[in-house]
Amino acid sequence: MIAKVIGNSKIYGEIEVGGAKNAALPIVAATLATSRKVILERVPNLSDVKEMISMLEKAGMNISLNGNSASFFVKNLDGNLSEVSSKIRASILLLGPLALKTGHAFLSYPGGCAIGKRPVDLHLNGLRKLGFKISMGDKVIEATPIHHPKDVQIYLDFPSVGATEHLMITASIMNETTTVLSNCAREPEVIELQDFLNSAGAKVIGAGTTKIKIVGVPRLSGSHFKIMGDRIEVGTYVIAAMAGEGEVTIKGVKPSTVNFLNFLCKLGGDVKVGEHFVIVKPSRLSAFNISTAPYPGFPTDLQPQATVLACKANGISKITENIFENRFGHVRELEKMGAKIERLENSIKVKGSRQFKAARLLGKDLRETAAITIAAALADGVSEIENFEIMFRGYENVIEKLDRIGIKIVM
Ligand code: UD1
Repeated sequence: MIAKVIGNSKIYGEIEVGGAKNAALPIVAATLATSRKVILERVPNLSDVKEMISMLEKAGMNISLNGNSASFFVKNLDGNLSEVSSKIRASILLLGPLALKTGHAFLSYPGGCAIGKRPVDLHLNGLRKLGFKISMGDKVIEATPIHHPKDVQIYLDFPSVGATEHLMITASIMNETTTVLSNCAREPEVIELQDFLNSAGAKVIGAGTTKIKIVGVPRLSGSHFKIMGDRIEVGTYVIAAMAGEGEVTIKGVKPSTVNFLNFLCKLGGDVKVGEHFVIVKPSRLSAFNISTAPYPGFPTDLQPQATVLACKANGISKITENIFENRFGHVRELEKMGAKIERLENSIKVKGSRQFKAARLLGKDLRETAAITIAAALADGVSEIENFEIMFRGYENVIEKLDRIGIKIVM
């Protein structure tokens, strides 16, 4: 799908962010571990979330969607999802809970954006410690719970968000097993998952710190839960406003989740965070150095958008990517628009104060496409972005929301 992005945008307006993709995916996956009806509010209408829902339906869950609310009920489950689980990386979160519920789970290797190797060894090693036998075929991973350990200690070699969440969900329904995860991811979405699991009767404490303790219960009950606002969506629209020296108000924000705004403020950005909103006012930006890192560090999911900011800031900025080895796909696209960027090993040096030229661009990854869309909106004419639909994986109603802040996109 080709999108035409009209340049010379004057960025101004007000929008409300949707439910967080990265909170919705593990929470929706965790409904598999429940035994009563679950109602979720603020479920974002995104293709990745729809994909997760469709996998759960194939596994035998009864799910109904009504706008942004959804109800989930576990019926007779089938553990074989090998034909349907390769599209999104988050499908791996189903392996442990599905195997516990059905005795055996079969999944294909997970997909997702092409930003690096993205192995699942931390997930599988964690499941092994929880007493699962894991068999890895060419295309399919099989998990079978064979032991029922009493006390389990799992140290994650890297604070993987997905592995932390997968092991939390799985361990929460291992009755009489106490699991302690250390070196956990501390992202706000992990806290959100803990809150959801506990709302359904789980016993999980410690999310938001490096150590999480899970006391397994026989089963989870039901829950009625509202998903937090998407902090990466907030960051993307804040960066669009800052890069365009525009003025926007963004609603639906949970202030405790958007720590990266402190950093953006230091660049000269006039950003005010309130109880449920963020206001950005026009300001002149200075060059900066950032390195992505697990939370509370600067999020890798805002690194491509920050590159656009660097193209506009005054001076030479340096951006280092520490989470994914292949997340500079946007550099080539920005260069087509006149950006001056030098590539080093896992970092880039960006020359600022650039005016973008309109160009024909290709979207390959969700966040990279968000970045080039912002640049195109500030360019001197009409740009075309091929494969724009990748944005629908992670930005709810993106065309309408961009329109509300002055960015026009024609499909
Ligand atoms: C989640 C987010 C994604 C974000 C990423 C890092 C969701 C649905 N997605 O992805 O938007 O960019 O966190 O903040 O929440 N790794 C391994 N082995 C593993 C697992 C991960 O080597 O078993 C590596 C990955 O290849 C990557 C790094 O660890 O280099 C971080 O990955 P992880 O934190 O697991 O990211 P995801 O959960 O996939």
